[in-house]
Amino acid sequence: MGVICLLCSLTGKFLLLIAVALLILKLYLLLCKGVCTSRRRMDGKTVIITGANTGIGKETALNLARRGARVILACRDMDKTNQACREIISKTGNKEVIGHHIDLSSLQSVRDFARVILTTESRLDVLVNNAGAAGLSRKRTQDGLQIEMQVNHFGPFLLVNLLLVTKDLVVELVHQYALFTVTKDLVVKLVHQYALFTITKDLVVELVHQYALFTITKELVVDAPCSLGLLKRSAPSRIIMVTSLLHTRSKLDLTSLDADDWFDDENLYSTSKLANILVANELARKLRGSVEVASSSFLTPSDLADSVEIWQQLNDDQIFSIRPAVTSSVVSPREQIDNSPCNLTGVTANSTHPGFVATEVFRRLRGFRKTLLDIVIKFYAKTPEEGAQTTIYLAASEEVEGISGKYFVDCKETKTSLRAQNVALAKKLWEKSELLVKMSRDEIHY
Ligand SMILES: NC(=O)c1ccc[n+]([C@@H]2O[C@H](COP(=O)([O-])OP(=O)(O)OC[C@H]3O[C@@H](n4cnc5c(N)ncnc54)[C@H](OP(=O)(O)O)[C@@H]3O)[C@@H](O)[C@H]2O)c1
Repeated sequence: MGVICLLCSLTGKFLLLIAVALLILKLYLLLCKGVCTSRRRMDGKTVIITGANTGIGKETALNLARRGARVILACRDMDKTNQACREIISKTGNKEVIGHHIDLSSLQSVRDFARVILTTESRLDVLVNNAGAAGLSRKRTQDGLQIEMQVNHFGPFLLVNLLLVTKDLVVELVHQYALFTVTKDLVVKLVHQYALFTITKDLVVELVHQYALFTITKELVVDAPCSLGLLKRSAPSRIIMVTSLLHTRSKLDLTSLDADDWFDDENLYSTSKLANILVANELARKLRGSVEVASSSFLTPSDLADSVEIWQQLNDDQIFSIRPAVTSSVVSPREQIDNSPCNLTGVTANSTHPGFVATEVFRRLRGFRKTLLDIVIKFYAKTPEEGAQTTIYLAASEEVEGISGKYFVDCKETKTSLRAQNVALAKKLWEKSELLVKMSRDEIHY
């Protein structure tokens, strides 16, 4: 009898301890919830959100539509998408909410979607790669890739590249300028190249101005009269990858980059989410650009004057005057870039973990695991609106202006796993992904 009483009392204490621990956890989660407090309007801005017919994506779309943005819901089920558009329009009064079809498990569908966007939209300020799936079966897509990896990583990877790509030779040269040693000859060559194309007076003036400062800024690119990638043309613009804390569980490393190694069920979702962060970080590096300038090649005002002679041979409507700024002191490019709070292209890329959110992402779970999860969700999960806060913060807030290559949770910059910070791994993943999505020369953006 005494033993039973002792056991009951011990069990009671144990249960009480668990209840207190769960309560503390609940309080902790409540207190940590990040909220986007920015009231910034987004009138005139265009946003694409993948997987926006439900869950976190739909709440993000609703919030950004309320801020006045033109919101494009990029989804695979058009019935659900049209329904979501109607709902958002009726709640916000913003009629600029439209749906477009994309199935991230098909590379062709991603290419079709990008083509529609590139031909119908004049700008793109924010791209939210939100769509994602977990627990898909171990099958390959028509592209020969593992389906979960394709939906969560390869599809978004291709999409980002297609919306950044620069098709025009002139702009390509300008971008190359950022990669090569700048010499007087190169400047002259560039000017000749420009003379071959339709060039506005403003662009040339801008070029002169920029050369004098040894850097290329987003204004130059924005002004370029050609088919510069939508995201770059609309800079400052933002790319957001919705990833997961589960990325920390991925075992993807430098020795396991072959597609078959990604097909381990356990590792699959977490690996695809690790890939999202690696891509965001690599994008941030690529979009920052670099200017290599030998000290002997600094341009002086007289170098510019030589170039000006060539420019003066242009047609009347291309003749321009040089701004006084050109003759001001020459600044070391490296100094300029190091002091620059932003990057050369003005496009930033960040990733976010939304938290544990009650959405349809768990729809494929079955049996005991599903029952257990439903209970946990009831007590601990965020609502989709709460789960969308960090994405909204990254899309709209002035606080993250110019910030790139960072990972955010609850509207705060947070550390990722060490593996997610591995630069060599990110580069290797990028190169491998380019091959696996069969990117053609003109689909490569940098
Ligand atoms: N919920 C969480 O606790 C949690 C935690 C960490 C990270 N995340 C991430 O948050 C993001 C949003 O997920 P969620 O929780 O809002 O889940 P959700 O409610 O299931 O929404 C996922 C969205 O992705 C779309 N999608 C799935 N497969 C697609 C495909 N092949 N092509 C195009 N779209 C596709 C879905 O479309 P359909 O409706 O047509 O299926 C849906 O719109 C995901 O990237 C997820 O990995 C979620």
